[in-house]
Amino acid sequence: MMLRMRPIIIAANWKMNTGPSDAAELALEIARRTREPEVVRVICPPFVCLAPVAAALAGEGVGIGAQNVHHELAGAFTGEVSAAMLAGLADWVILGHSERRRDAGETDALIGAKLRRAIASGLRPILCVGEQLADRDAGRAEDVVAAQVEGALAGIDTAVLAGSGLVVAYEPVWAIGTGRTARGADAAAMAERIRSTIDAAGHAGIAADVPVLYGGSVTSGSIAEFLAEPTIDGALVGGASLKPDEMAAIVGRAGLTARARRDAGPRDGPSAT
Ligand code: PGA
Repeated sequence: MMLRMRPIIIAANWKMNTGPSDAAELALEIARRTREPEVVRVICPPFVCLAPVAAALAGEGVGIGAQNVHHELAGAFTGEVSAAMLAGLADWVILGHSERRRDAGETDALIGAKLRRAIASGLRPILCVGEQLADRDAGRAEDVVAAQVEGALAGIDTAVLAGSGLVVAYEPVWAIGTGRTARGADAAAMAERIRSTIDAAGHAGIAADVPVLYGGSVTSGSIAEFLAEPTIDGALVGGASLKPDEMAAIVGRAGLTARARRDAGPRDGPSAT
């Protein structure tokens, strides 16, 4: 048995906002206003902004993520970006965001292929899952999300997964960009279900170590409700992540949680390492 703690992570998903000329300045302002040593910060700008953002954030201790990656390494895939192309530009990648499931028709099987490619390429994956409003209303939200997790992880070796630093972001589709958030208790229950699904998929040694983030209309006003839940380890922030004031407040709140959890001591449990 080993004692361990999950990190607190605040990841910014800038979506299709900012351009090469303004992204670096925004990233640097956010980095400077969110210096919380105990919070893992990640900024995910559009592909074309990765290079200027990476240059601007050199030495700032902020992770940089892509918002997607292709599952093949090279070839006749017009308009796509491979993991190899991200080398030196990004160390994280968002996979399976609901906007890509919706607009690019990404399936769990394809997201699983991207996940395997990301891991093989040394990119730390943030796997997004979440139910539609109709699923929640019908009482099947947890089953839908569990199926998404199972589908994406199918066929992945436990040792590979354990070394991947996998993060799962629970983002109810009805909460994304709507100003409406899940209830903290529902998100916490979903985080438990996500970990029990990882366990049940044969990866019992690692589930307790997988950070689960909440995403969907997170702001400085709503972050506390999610971080109050011990099963939630941070947030994937969209709209509010473009606002330095909001990011400063969100990461500041996350710093309080990180220190409180550190002071409360690590959990006891089997270690993946
Ligand atoms: P939102 O987006 O915070 O604007 O709702 C979150 C996300 O889609 O990751």
